[in-house]
Amino acid sequence: MHISSLLPLTLLLGSVSPANAIPVAEAAGGGIHARHGNNEYGSDLVSRGSSNANIVARDGPAFWMESIKHQGISPFGPSGYTTFRNVKDFGAKGDGVTDDTAAINNAISSGARCGQNCFSSTTTPAVVYFPSGTYVVSAPIFDYYNTIIIGNPNAMPVIKASSGFNGGYLIDGDPYFSADPNWPATTVFWRQVRNFVLDTTDVAAGTQISGIHWPTAQATSLQNIVFQLSADQGTEHQGIFCESGSAGFAGDLVFNGGKIGAALGNQQFTMRNLTFNNAVTAISHFWNWGWTYQEININNCQLGIDISTGGSDQQSVGSITLFDSSITNTPVAIKSARSDSSAPQTAGSIILENVALDNVGVVVEGPNSTVLAGTSGSSVIAAWGQGNQYTPAGPTKFASDLTPVSRPAGLLDGSKYYQRSKPQYESLSASSFSSVRDGGAKGDGTTDDTAALQSVINSAAGSGNVVYIDAGVYKVTSTLIIPANSKIVGEAYPVIMSSGDFFNNMDAPKPVIQVGQAGDQGQVELSDLILSTQGPQAGAILIEWNIASSSEPAGLWDVHARVGGFAGSQQTTTECAKTPNSSNVDNNCIAAYMLMHVTPSASNLYMENCWLWVSDHDVDVQSGSDGGQITIYSGRGLNIESTAGNIWLSGTSVEHSSLYQYQFASTKNHHFLKQEMLTQEVYRYYQPNPNALTPFTPNTAIHDPDFATSCSGSTGNCAMGWGLRVVNSTDLHVYGAGLYSFFNNYDATCSVYGGPQNCQSSIFSIEGTSAISVYNLNVLGSQSMVDKDGKSLASYSDNIGVFTNNIAYFTTN
Ligand SMILES: *[C@@H]1O[C@H](CO)[C@@H](O)[C@H](O)[C@H]1NC(C)=O
Ligand SMILES: *[C@@H]1O[C@H](CO)[C@@H](O)[C@H](O)[C@H]1NC(C)=O
Ligand SMILES: *[C@@H]1O[C@H](CO)[C@@H](O)[C@H](O)[C@H]1NC(C)=O
Ligand SMILES: *[C@@H]1O[C@H](CO)[C@@H](O)[C@H](O)[C@H]1NC(C)=O
Repeated sequence: MHISSLLPLTLLLGSVSPANAIPVAEAAGGGIHARHGNNEYGSDLVSRGSSNANIVARDGPAFWMESIKHQGISPFGPSGYTTFRNVKDFGAKGDGVTDDTAAINNAISSGARCGQNCFSSTTTPAVVYFPSGTYVVSAPIFDYYNTIIIGNPNAMPVIKASSGFNGGYLIDGDPYFSADPNWPATTVFWRQVRNFVLDTTDVAAGTQISGIHWPTAQATSLQNIVFQLSADQGTEHQGIFCESGSAGFAGDLVFNGGKIGAALGNQQFTMRNLTFNNAVTAISHFWNWGWTYQEININNCQLGIDISTGGSDQQSVGSITLFDSSITNTPVAIKSARSDSSAPQTAGSIILENVALDNVGVVVEGPNSTVLAGTSGSSVIAAWGQGNQYTPAGPTKFASDLTPVSRPAGLLDGSKYYQRSKPQYESLSASSFSSVRDGGAKGDGTTDDTAALQSVINSAAGSGNVVYIDAGVYKVTSTLIIPANSKIVGEAYPVIMSSGDFFNNMDAPKPVIQVGQAGDQGQVELSDLILSTQGPQAGAILIEWNIASSSEPAGLWDVHARVGGFAGSQQTTTECAKTPNSSNVDNNCIAAYMLMHVTPSASNLYMENCWLWVSDHDVDVQSGSDGGQITIYSGRGLNIESTAGNIWLSGTSVEHSSLYQYQFASTKNHHFLKQEMLTQEVYRYYQPNPNALTPFTPNTAIHDPDFATSCSGSTGNCAMGWGLRVVNSTDLHVYGAGLYSFFNNYDATCSVYGGPQNCQSSIFSIEGTSAISVYNLNVLGSQSMVDKDGKSLASYSDNIGVFTNNIAYFTTN
C-alpha cells in the first residue's frame, strides 16, 4: 500500500520500475484526463443504433436499508453530520429522463465531507443509497473519501450516461480533481460501490468513456455491478478503468460489450466471479505485481486477457493467477510478451488451474508464436504455467503443464473452490434488524457501550434478527461475546473500539470481540465493520474466532482491523509521532496484542476483503511532508491455529505487526486453505528500530516465533516480522501472494527497484510443514523469498520481476 502516503509522488515515481511508471506518471501528469478527458470527447449527440440493449430499471421490492431508521452519527466528525443519504432526498428522480447528476453529487458531497483538498479522513463516513430507478447523468458522479455507494439489490438501479455525457467516467470512484492527485490511489481506503447497472450505451461508440474509474487501495470493493457498454463496431467504451493503487477486491461483475471490459493497473487485486460477454478485449493490464482471478468467464471476445503491455523488453505486468474459470468462443485467451529472453526476467508469469475452454484457438500467445495452443472443441486445462518454479529446488524456467493442487475436499463446492459473496440480506424487511442505537448504545466514542451492545447481540441471536450497528464509534471496556448464529452488519463502517485497563495487560490478553466459546458450533456472519482500540491496549486481541461451523461456512466480509492513526484512537501524530532517532518504545503507542486469532477449535471460516491494519500514518492528518507518519505497535497479525481447517482467505491483507503478519500454526487434518491475493504487505515501517523482539515477548502457547534463537549469529536484518509463517501444518494452498517489506526505520532505500532488497533477510518461513504450494509468490525488499526450516530456498536475485520479485510456482512436494 501507501508508498505514496509516506513519500511525495515524485519520489514514488522514482521508486517504481520504469515499466510501472507509465500508468503512475499518467495519473500524476493528467494523462488520464487527456485520454479520458472531458470536453474533447463528450459532446457529439449521435443517435444510437438499435444494436444496443435498451436497459430499463425494473421495479422490485424495496431494500431494508431504505426504510430502516437512519440514526448513524460521526462522533469525531462535524457536528450534526448525517451518514445516510438517499439520493432521492437530494432531488434525484431516477425517472430515466431528468438529469440527476447534480442531485447525486450533492448527496455525496454535502456536509463537510472529505473531497477536494482533503487527503483522507475517518470522520465523515457515508452511505449513499439509490432506490431502484434509472438515473440519467450528464457528467461524472464524484466519489468521496470513506463512502459506500449502494443500490437496491432487489431491482438494481441503472445509472445511465446521457448521449451528450461530458467526462471520462460514469462514476469517478477516485477523482483527482486536479493534475496533482487529491489523494494518491494507494491511500484510498474504505470505499465500496455495489448493486448497479452502469450503462453507457447512449454515448457514441467511438467516444472514450468508462463505467467506473477505480484506482483504489485496501478495504475497497466493487460488488454486483453490470456494465452495459456499446458493442458497436469501433467501440471505445470500457467497464472499469483502474490505472494505479494497492487494492482490493471486486466480485460479481458482468461486462457486456465494450472495447475493454476491465482496463487494469494496480499492485495487486483479487477479482472473483466476473463475466465478460462480447467485448473486443475482456481484460487488459497496464501493469501489476500480482493478480488473482477466480471464476472468470469470458465469452465471445476477440482477446481474453492482455498482459503483453510494455513488450518483451520492458514487460510491465508481473503475474496473473487464473483458476476455476472458462473461456468460450474467443480466438486468443491470453496475450503475453514473455519469452526465454524477455525482461524483466520473471515478468509475464502465468498460472492457470481448472480453466475450461470451448472454441479457443490459442490459449497463450507469446511474442513470436503460440506458447499454448487451444482447441476448436471443449477441453479443460488442469494446470499450466510459465515463469520460474521451485519444487522446492530451483529456479527452473518453465512454460508447461503442472500437477494441479490436490484440492482438499472440504474447501470445494463441486469441483471448484467454495465462494460466497457478502450477504446483503435483501429478502429481509427492516423489522428483521435490531439497531444497536435503538437498544441504547450511543456510538459517541465516549460512553461505555459494552452492556448495551451485548444486550442487543444476545437478543438478536435469540430472535434470529440481524444486528444493525448504526454508524458511530462504540467504546467497549470488556469483551463482547458474539454467540453462534449471530449475523451483524454495519452502517458506514461503524467502529467497535476497546478502551481501558481490561485490555492493556500483555501478560493476560483479552479479546475485544469473541466469536463463540471454544467448542461452540454454529454459523456467524459479520460484514462492514471496523474493530479498533483506543490508547494503550497491549493485551487486546481484536477478534478471537472460536466457532466451528458445520454446514454453511461462517463468514467475514469487509470486516477490518484498524489500530492507531485516527481521530479518537488517542494514538495520532500528537501522541505517537514516528521516532526514527530513538530506540525507546512509548508504551502509550502499543495498540494491540494480536489482530485476529482463529483458535484450535474453530473451523469452516470464509473471509473476504478483510484488511487487518496497524496504521503507519494518521489518516486524519491533512498535511505534513511525511503524511503524518506514526509508530504504533501490535504484537501479531492473523494467527490461525484451527486444527480442522477449512479456511478460505479471499483478498485479505495484514500489515505492520511486530512478530508476523500471517501465521498458520499446528493446523492439521489435511483441510486447509485457499489463500488468495494478497498475503500481505509487510511494510514494517519502523523495524529494525526496534526489531521484532520489542516490545512483545514470544509466547510459546500461541506458537510465536523465537527470533532470539533463530537469528542468533546471523548478520543482516533477521529479527524482522514474518510476512507469512507456516508451522507444523499441512495442505496450505496459496493462489497469489504479495509479501512486501518497503522500509527500514522509515527509509525505503532497501526496497527500491534495482536496489539491495535487504529491508529484511527473510520474509516467508515454512517450518515442519508439508503439502504447501504457492502460485505467484511476489516478494519485495527481502533477500530470501522463502525459507524452509531455517534455510533459504530462493534468492530474490534469481527471480527479478517488474518491481516485486516473482516465483510462479513453489511447492514443498
Ligand atoms: C456471480 O455473479 C452473478 C452476477 O452477479 C451472480 O448472479 C452469481 O450468483 C454469482 N455467483 C456466485 C457463486 O456468487
Ligand atoms: C522473436 O523472434 C526474433 C527472430 O527469431 C528474435 O530475434 C526475437 O528475440 C524474438 N523475440 C522474443 C521476445 O522472443
Ligand atoms: C532524526 O534525525 C535526523 C538527523 O539529525 C533529522 O534530520 C530528523 O529530522 C530527525 N527526525 C525526527 C522525526 O526527529
Ligand atoms: C512443531 O512441531 C515440533 C515437533 O513436534 C515441535 O518441536 C515444535 O515446537 C513445533 N513448533 C511450534 C512452533 O509449535
